Amino acid sequence: KNDKLIAPSILAADFANLQRDIEMINSSDADWFHIDIMDGVFVPNISFGMPVLKAITKHTKKTIDVHLMIVDPDRFIDTFAALGANILSVHYEACTHLHRTLQAIKGAGMKAGVAINPHTNVALLEDVIQDIDLVCMMSVNPGFGGQSFIENTYKKIAQLKEIILNNNASTLIEIDGGVTDQNAEKLVKAGADVLVAGSFVFKSDDPKTTIKQLKEITNK
Ligand code: DX5
Ligand code: ZN
Repeated sequence: KNDKLIAPSILAADFANLQRDIEMINSSDADWFHIDIMDGVFVPNISFGMPVLKAITKHTKKTIDVHLMIVDPDRFIDTFAALGANILSVHYEACTHLHRTLQAIKGAGMKAGVAINPHTNVALLEDVIQDIDLVCMMSVNPGFGGQSFIENTYKKIAQLKEIILNNNASTLIEIDGGVTDQNAEKLVKAGADVLVAGSFVFKSDDPKTTIKQLKEITNK
């Protein structure tokens, strides 16, 4: 059994040594690269944009999981496809016509993800769950790495899992924010499929070994 995925978040990498950190992830047990794009409007922070993403995708061999924390994401769907994104997640709270946005992401050749803030009830996704490849469930308020995990997330995972099963959907549940070796096992037991980890990986003494540990904890 090796179906639980680890997605290190590049937001916590050393941007002056980005190639080194990308190669570390390439040679690690990580499954995906999680890439946080922030616009300073949807969230109170700006991360990085297209030129940096282009540099990252050029060097990585793993699945590119892009998490857009931007208003009106429809404007950039084709751009992110051209830059090499494999999965594109938009925020529920940033989309007026979510169904249309999901169709556009798939039409551009990517897997379609929906990210939800901690206050957003998972039941709001029920009527589009068949169209969602990935739910990126925020377990912190989006905008910054290094925040502490919100405990209410476990309950939300169970509720979302039930909606997915009831609708015969194959949606993956990704948990984003405050993931550590202390909560990883409980998260997958609750129903999580993918764990994003930023600070816990990159602030550790040996990031590659830390990724391996997370992979082992979640797949034992
Ligand atoms: C938060 C981002 C997360 C963040 C996770 O807005 O969406 O992906 O990088 O970082 P940690 O693991 O440090 O909470
Ligand atoms: Zn993220």
